[in-house]
Amino acid sequence: PRFIALIPAAGSGSRMNNELPKQYLSLADKPMIYHALHTLCHSSHIFRVFVILAPDDNEWNCYDWSSFAGKLVVKYCGGATRADSVLNGLKAMQADGSIGNDDWILVHDAARPCLTIFQLDQLIDTLALDEVGGLLAIPVADTLKRADSNQRVMGTKSRNGLWQAQTPQMFRLGLLMDALSKVNSAAITDDASAIEALGLRPRLVQSDAYNFKVTYPQDLALAELILQKRET
Ligand code: CTP
Ligand code: MG
Repeated sequence: PRFIALIPAAGSGSRMNNELPKQYLSLADKPMIYHALHTLCHSSHIFRVFVILAPDDNEWNCYDWSSFAGKLVVKYCGGATRADSVLNGLKAMQADGSIGNDDWILVHDAARPCLTIFQLDQLIDTLALDEVGGLLAIPVADTLKRADSNQRVMGTKSRNGLWQAQTPQMFRLGLLMDALSKVNSAAITDDASAIEALGLRPRLVQSDAYNFKVTYPQDLALAELILQKRET
């Protein structure tokens, strides 16, 4: 089987509070999505990289992507939720003809620009022979509180055994399509939960905090620091 990356990039970035969708915000002199694309396209494991854009995306064509030409496929088939965008992307892959149901799909957020080749290799090496597939994740470090709507603590939850899910999340094309077609796409925020809903148990592969998701305005400066430090 081959390894194919799928980058859902059809969101609007509402929590970022910027008119420009966050995947295009400038980060270390490039649009944010450039960084994940660069890592995925330069991995010798990855056969092809599909980018899923909103049907009305006006930004993508403002940039020069020719350095990724050998692997990059762009589809304007994003949906209303992340899960819809991923499912539409998987359908586009199937229609493409060159990708089979047993090939591995690595779904990676455009908003995780600090993914490294090392983490990507760890994920692929750990899961290439796995029955189910899995995802990058990190053990929860902080103490967890449940609160009411007045921010009064109702209880403390043990963080023992709790992990934060990241991406890439890696599953076989046929299984992931089956899983995502069956879930309520508005109720899930990652791909693994659709697999879990089938009764399967994805494997966690330990990553690190650098692979965080850029979500709020203050996340931009942190991502930029990480990327700049690597360049030097
Ligand atoms: N995404 C997508 N299609 C959607 C919603 C999200 O392809 N309908 C993508 C985003 O572009 C992003 C990834 O899924 O790369 C992770 O989603 P998130 O961080 O939630 O991004 P947004 O949905 O754009 O941001 P927000 O939730 O703050 O609006
Ligand atoms: Mg979102």
